[in-house]
Amino acid sequence: MNVPATFAYLVASVFFILGLKFLGSPRTARRGNLFGAIGMLLAIIVTLTDQKIIDTTYIIVGLVIGSAAGIIIARTVQMTAMPQMVALLNGLGGGASTLVAYAEYIRMPESPIDVLISIVLSVLIGAVTFTGSLIAWAKLQGVMRGAPILYPYQKQLNGLAVGVMLLLGILFALDPGQWYLLLLVLLLALALGVMTVIPIGGADMPVVISLLNSYSGLAGATTGFVLSNNVLIISGALVGASGLILTSIMCKAMNRSLANVLFAGVGSEIGPANAETVQRTVIRYTPEDAATMLESAQSVIIIPGYGLAVAQAQHVLHELANFLIQRGTQVRYAIHPVAGRMPGHMNVLLAEANVPYDLLLEMDQINDDFQNTDVALVIGANDVVNPAARSKKDSPLYGMPILNVDQARSAIVLKRSLNPGFAGEDNELFYEKKTMMVFGDAKATLTNLVQLVKQ
Ligand code: TAP
Repeated sequence: MNVPATFAYLVASVFFILGLKFLGSPRTARRGNLFGAIGMLLAIIVTLTDQKIIDTTYIIVGLVIGSAAGIIIARTVQMTAMPQMVALLNGLGGGASTLVAYAEYIRMPESPIDVLISIVLSVLIGAVTFTGSLIAWAKLQGVMRGAPILYPYQKQLNGLAVGVMLLLGILFALDPGQWYLLLLVLLLALALGVMTVIPIGGADMPVVISLLNSYSGLAGATTGFVLSNNVLIISGALVGASGLILTSIMCKAMNRSLANVLFAGVGSEIGPANAETVQRTVIRYTPEDAATMLESAQSVIIIPGYGLAVAQAQHVLHELANFLIQRGTQVRYAIHPVAGRMPGHMNVLLAEANVPYDLLLEMDQINDDFQNTDVALVIGANDVVNPAARSKKDSPLYGMPILNVDQARSAIVLKRSLNPGFAGEDNELFYEKKTMMVFGDAKATLTNLVQLVKQ
């Protein structure tokens, strides 16, 4: 490769690294996205020109079709459907790596052994990512059953499949003339992707998607070794590492180990409803009661949760917060790391409504302030404010850090019923004397509240 191309790849890699750095904060995330996109554009242009691809007809057709599909999907996807879109994108990344590595074998069957090993790994990891991501998408989209699909000796069979693939891969690398060995690795890897994801509950899919994202990066990096393409190795390694870090952050925030997510078969259909919890009664308050409480408060902390995304109430929430701020109330938002159903879900939702970033505080920054706060306004959040996480040893939430809403002087909770959240655990907060339960769709209730506060 010539020097200008190598230098351009280096610049693209710097853009990727800066992009990741900027993605670390909601304030700079948009810039991070832009930097990543610029880096990728540069890498594509350099690859097309440096590799002396004279006839670019197919590439341009592919670019136009791919870009059009990407723009349409990104513009139309619902925020709550974002995890399955990410799953699809990961799957396509894995599939692309597999195809490129396989094509390279067809083009140069007598490659050196290090390239052959990279081809095997790329085909293997890419194919697992491809079918695993499709299953994750299908579970979240409701195309297939979200509940874990379990059968006897599942883990052992998966382990056996990995062992057989590695053996076939070694035999292939030693004798690349035996083309059917690579084909067998490919078929087994496609099956393994399905087999490893079906036992995982639909509700654990975001963690799996993050892990598959990491796999797609690894597949890209190994393909980079196949093609001796530095920028692919660097970008693949960045995706692989950051996906793994994100997976670990999500597991920690949910108080689950990765092994528990992958092998425990936890998680029923999405949106569980625990009949047991409906037995107890609470006082039902009206939006008028809540408005009076909010008007007399000097400080309010807003706790958004998954229900805010379902109700798409972020804009009207912002409107309410603005009215309160204009009245002189101190208003801040408390963001739990796993509120919603995907990393950064609440940040993205509130950014969409142009909520200023400096009003968004992470759990560690705001948790000590609840005790000095007049009203904690909980909107469609449940597990992330459930005190069972602190006290109930047999709860699936036990050990998960929560937002200290129960320490605020009073709480207003907006949700539709007493149904539990994702973990299926009843929430003691709803039955406390200082808590006002205002039942109804969050958007409808907030719209009502805005009218009342405005008067
Ligand atoms: P949840 O505990 O899932 O509670 C959401 C609540 O929103 C439900 O109790 C529901 O009650 C209410 N709701 C739904 N639609 C609503 C609407 N239209 N209007 C008003 N309320 C509505 O949410 P959370 O507190 O955000 O916690 C997130 C949970 O998801 C955690 O357990 C977390 O571990 C898990 N999880 C998170 C992630 C990431 S990365 N964020 C990934 C996987 C799993 P009603 O039905 O009564 O309205």
